[in-house]
Amino acid sequence: MANLPNEVSRRRTFAIIAHPDAGKTTLTEKLLLFGGAIQLAGAVKARGEQRRARSDWMKVERERGISVTASVMSFDYKGCAFNLLDTPGHEDFSEDTYRTLTAVDSAVMVIDAAKGIEAQTRKLFEACRLRDVPIVTFINKMDRESREPIDLLSEIEDQLALDVTPASWPIGMGKTFRGCYDLMKDRLILFERGGKQDEDVVEIKGINDPALEQNLKEDEVARLRDDVEMARGLMKPFDLEAYREGHLSPVYFGSAVNNFGVGELLSGLAEMAPPPRPQKTLTRVVQPTEEKTTAFVFKIQANMDPKHRDRIAFTRLVSGQYQRGMKMLHVRSGKQLTLHNPVVFLAQDREIAEEGFAGDILGIPNHGNLRIGDTLTEGEVLQFVGIPSFAPEYLQSVRADDPLRAKHLGKALEQLAEEGAARVFRPEIGTDYIVGVVGALQFEILADRIRTEYGLPVKFEQTSLHTARWVESDDPAALKALVDETRASMAKDHNGDPVFLARNAWHLDRAQQDHPKVRFLKVKEQA
Ligand code: G4P
Repeated sequence: MANLPNEVSRRRTFAIIAHPDAGKTTLTEKLLLFGGAIQLAGAVKARGEQRRARSDWMKVERERGISVTASVMSFDYKGCAFNLLDTPGHEDFSEDTYRTLTAVDSAVMVIDAAKGIEAQTRKLFEACRLRDVPIVTFINKMDRESREPIDLLSEIEDQLALDVTPASWPIGMGKTFRGCYDLMKDRLILFERGGKQDEDVVEIKGINDPALEQNLKEDEVARLRDDVEMARGLMKPFDLEAYREGHLSPVYFGSAVNNFGVGELLSGLAEMAPPPRPQKTLTRVVQPTEEKTTAFVFKIQANMDPKHRDRIAFTRLVSGQYQRGMKMLHVRSGKQLTLHNPVVFLAQDREIAEEGFAGDILGIPNHGNLRIGDTLTEGEVLQFVGIPSFAPEYLQSVRADDPLRAKHLGKALEQLAEEGAARVFRPEIGTDYIVGVVGALQFEILADRIRTEYGLPVKFEQTSLHTARWVESDDPAALKALVDETRASMAKDHNGDPVFLARNAWHLDRAQQDHPKVRFLKVKEQA
């Protein structure tokens, strides 16, 4: 039997959040390089054969050259076992992004030093804040002309209402970028363009050590001393608890493409980032060191292999020790599930998982019996909570080109809804299905999938609908009154739960005012 507390405490499961182009792919690649998971830079970004082979199942991905699906990468560094969960970075993203963030214990926020906080940074940050996910910030591209460090730090504080502590301080920028002063360990890390993996580190005894003058120009040292004094005076000192509660972010400056600052970032994660957290269920909190194995499904990816109509359920282990071949209770159906061939994800390959601990992600192949939010245990009846469904921001109706195949379309939509790829609503009046997504690009992806996976050409059409809200009330009569009075705006989701489809913001407001006892929910927990 493995040493469970030890295995748990060395795990770090995290995601990188960034606005497109800030350098997420580059940083991912460098982290894997440092972690020894890949030998050559370029492997993650490869637009060549290898990448194509991996994601061949989705034409849209290939045509657009974007990664629409998230994956998981595992690697070791300094005794820690890291799981990096990729979040699609395209401007248009799906609920998968949000749900992936429910399966991590911390996040790295990458910011472009010339641009600061951008739209997507803010959106993803808000998704992290929903669960107080601790965040380490990496300000990237210091080898380019960038904004003043103090400006960038203030912007994070002001715009995200997040305290910051610089973990390192940059010396110059762009053409005159010389490196960073490591404020946590009092070291000087010298920058070298196109730098290798081993950084040029000079141990320093504090900011007044004359050794600084031996490595930097006089004016650089003077500026650094001033900056550090100011930063230490203005910013809060690092506080591990505040970071782990999601209130304070340590900030590193670096240049991913030049390998600079990546080692510090990884060491920082090893030292500060939280190990797997306890997870709430409807009835009790499950500790990661409990001996019995538990897990929850946070994402479904369908048809990864076009030859087999399989689905992979991305499942996060919450406690215990998974071993290949073990039997688990699928709580929702009450059935036993034997885990013969789940996979773990290494940087380039999928491999059969032999064992796993809290924080690790398993990919469980299945034919549709596993759904988002499902709980697996060794027999205890538990239901993990906190895996959200979001009210869609875009709603369209969908129709099969061939009207005789409407029934097949219903089946396909039901499966896609179960998988969590879209919300599917059946209006109380009328025959068309209404499909809701959180990013507009999803309609194209869905049409493509329905065509290729179910052999059904379909058309999505604009509707006059604005948004959807799940409705519930403690008073059944109040709910019935809403349904009766607004039947033309009512629908059911794939679980049969009632949904109000609003034509515009006013319509929604009005319904809320008229039915004060009804809750109109933007987020529904998976049940
Ligand atoms: P993303 O995944 O967040 O969208 O960003 P990605 O890593 O693809 O990086 C976006 C661009 O920024 C890339 O340039 C990349 O090389 C560049 N980049 C990343 N880190 C740094 C850095 O530290 N300094 C500088 N100067 N550039 C950086 P590209 O021209 O779009 O692509 P490529 O052809 O160079 O790969």
